[in-house]
Amino acid sequence: MSILIKNGRIITATDDYIADILIEGESISAIGKDLKFETEKVFDASGMLVFPGGIDPHVHLDMPFMGAFSSDDHETGTRAALFGGTTMLIDYAIQAKGNSLHSALETWKNRAKGKAYGDYSFHIAVTDFNESVKEEFKDLIENEGITSFKTFMAYKGALMIDDKQMLSIMNEVKKYAGLVAVHATNGDMIDYLVEKYKSQNKLSPWYHYLSQPELTETEASGRFVDLAYLSGVNAYIVHMTCEGALNKVREATKRNQKMLVETCPQYLLLDASVYKKGFDSAKWVMSPPIREKKDNESLWAGIRQGLVHVVGTDHCPFMWSDKLKGKDDFTKIPNGAPGLEHRIELLFSEGVRKNRISLNKFIEITSTNAANFFGLSHKKGTIAVGSDADIVIFDPERKHTISAKTHHHRCDYSAYEGFEVTGKVKNVFLRGKLAIDEDKVLVEKGYGKFLKRKTPC
Ligand code: URP
Ligand code: ZN
Ligand code: ZN
Repeated sequence: MSILIKNGRIITATDDYIADILIEGESISAIGKDLKFETEKVFDASGMLVFPGGIDPHVHLDMPFMGAFSSDDHETGTRAALFGGTTMLIDYAIQAKGNSLHSALETWKNRAKGKAYGDYSFHIAVTDFNESVKEEFKDLIENEGITSFKTFMAYKGALMIDDKQMLSIMNEVKKYAGLVAVHATNGDMIDYLVEKYKSQNKLSPWYHYLSQPELTETEASGRFVDLAYLSGVNAYIVHMTCEGALNKVREATKRNQKMLVETCPQYLLLDASVYKKGFDSAKWVMSPPIREKKDNESLWAGIRQGLVHVVGTDHCPFMWSDKLKGKDDFTKIPNGAPGLEHRIELLFSEGVRKNRISLNKFIEITSTNAANFFGLSHKKGTIAVGSDADIVIFDPERKHTISAKTHHHRCDYSAYEGFEVTGKVKNVFLRGKLAIDEDKVLVEKGYGKFLKRKTPC
């Protein structure tokens, strides 16, 4: 199939110009002014923005967690992602205690097999490090295309590892030029506060918020930055929420250390008032919790200053019936919220249109940096000859309102209900196929491919 996209305003992390794009097969084969090619289809993108498909590197699909499964699986999750202009996502395969990393990968590959609409890969979360696990990194990085490993400094008893294990993982991953990512909050501090509130019978979602104060994240982020410095590994902090943690990263630049940092739309756009809505607040019970307006401002500044590089979603939706499990005890509310579909439109509307970030920065944080860090830049993350034809045609003027009534997530509420946004995804191409045409999905279930990734560049 050959396609010509004409007269669009092409935006990448570095460029902004009007031109035509020729797609042949799965990739982009020419870019230029007034291209004269006979193609099977022509799209007129006059007045539209044309940019690379989004990459969301922080997604939990069909994940068993806190007595439930995240409600979007690889079918509904990748489809919702496509509607929102995200053509590739990286999900988390979680090592079960006593099992190998390879078996986690196998389990998650089977969960996704034949179901995905969009392209995907996995990070592996290492929850049980030992001598035999140590032997697995080389093969995973060099042969399986899994080049990033997630660690948890919280969720004690379930996912958390200690500093010695962290250093051993960093040491191994560094040997093969991979990357270590972290959920950086102090699990012991959190457990101490949880026990305190429970003993006082303080059990509403408000105490979820109070049991994970900024200090718990600042401490763990600083410790992780130091461990990364000691080991020299490529290190990435997921879902950063606050000024204190950001300042730890800022401080590290003074000794010439480079940390890679991700935040999420909820930490840029929402504040802790969401925890003052009675049990309805359970919709926003996630870890770390949503913080203060001053943290929103710090994170936007961090993006502009080049200290925060990626905006993922940490999409981890649970149905309301699952959230209700914690009606009388906030520690039983499954942690996580939906957001995958709305990342690009929210960042355009709240970021670009409100002059918080430039158009180029918008592409950097939604696509290009994730492609670079997670070994996808040979195919994805930009509009260039030879790249996969993962392309979004975006109407920058179209207004709409986010609602659970119209979203494509399998979740019966929205974390952004009633949010009015300007800018809407119109068409999405995935590897040369028109995948989304306005409100229709045109690729088949199973079109999405598992991609082997390279090491970070
Ligand atoms: O609350 C969250 N974030 N749930 C998903 C798991 C994690 O910590 O990323
Ligand atoms: Zn996390
Ligand atoms: Zn997560």
